[in-house]
Amino acid sequence: MAQTILITGANRGIGLALARQAHARGDSVIATARRPGEAEALNALTRRSGDITVVGADVTSPEQLAGIAAAEKRPIDLVVCNAGQYHARGALDDPAYTAEAWSGTLMTNVAGVFFTVRAFLPNLLAASAGRVAVISSIMGSSARAKGNAYIYRASKAAATNLACNLAAELAPQGIAVGAYHPGWVRTDMGGAAADVAAEDSAKGLLARFDALGLQSTGTVEDFEGNPIPF
Ligand SMILES: NC(=O)c1ccc[n+]([C@@H]2O[C@H](COP(=O)([O-])OP(=O)(O)OC[C@H]3O[C@@H](n4cnc5c(N)ncnc54)[C@H](OP(=O)(O)O)[C@@H]3O)[C@@H](O)[C@H]2O)c1
Repeated sequence: MAQTILITGANRGIGLALARQAHARGDSVIATARRPGEAEALNALTRRSGDITVVGADVTSPEQLAGIAAAEKRPIDLVVCNAGQYHARGALDDPAYTAEAWSGTLMTNVAGVFFTVRAFLPNLLAASAGRVAVISSIMGSSARAKGNAYIYRASKAAATNLACNLAAELAPQGIAVGAYHPGWVRTDMGGAAADVAAEDSAKGLLARFDALGLQSTGTVEDFEGNPIPF
């Protein structure tokens, strides 16, 4: 059944692939981008048949998100917290671990999820069975600690933790929440050597989001439905 889906960071990578596929299957899509005027691939979708709205949002700005939510009168069936950053990939002595890298990544990957869900909660509650998908990563799994990429791993551990806590708080209000590892995906972030195409990741993720409900809320799984140790 067609639904209304909001996707953050939808101008490239996995977010764009999700927007394309949701739009192609007849869903109404609200796609956010930090610089919507430059989001050429996303804006191209608006010139095709179907229902897609492109809005400007930096997920580190609760004010921007609240403004979009207030202007958006429609119930939203699914909010996909996809926007993410990955800086500083080395060991402890990597000079890229600056205070700015820490704060920027944690604000986007962690606080951005919180701000997004809080802003769109009224729209989710207005839907008959609202759902939230947090795009996390297996790199946040403490069971798979590798001793590098400290900021990103910590941020994704926190994002998964947020999803689990949101699932606990929102279940009594009828909203289901899941955390998802999209695979190692060929995007600007994942790089050309990654083993999953963005289109395949998005296809799998959309199927997992369709399967999400109160019976499975709090799930932590990959794009193929395999449980992820947390
Ligand atoms: N690719 C992988 O292998 C992989 C694996 C595990 C998890 N993930 C997760 O999957 C999600 C998507 O990753 P991707 O591979 O598609 O990355 P990507 O190609 O680097 O795209 C990241 C997207 O997030 C947006 N973004 C970054 N900071 C933002 C902010 N503060 N506010 C709003 N949007 C922001 C970017 O917008 P701009 O264009 O404006 O920068 C872009 O649209 C991320 O959460 C990532 O951590 C990816």
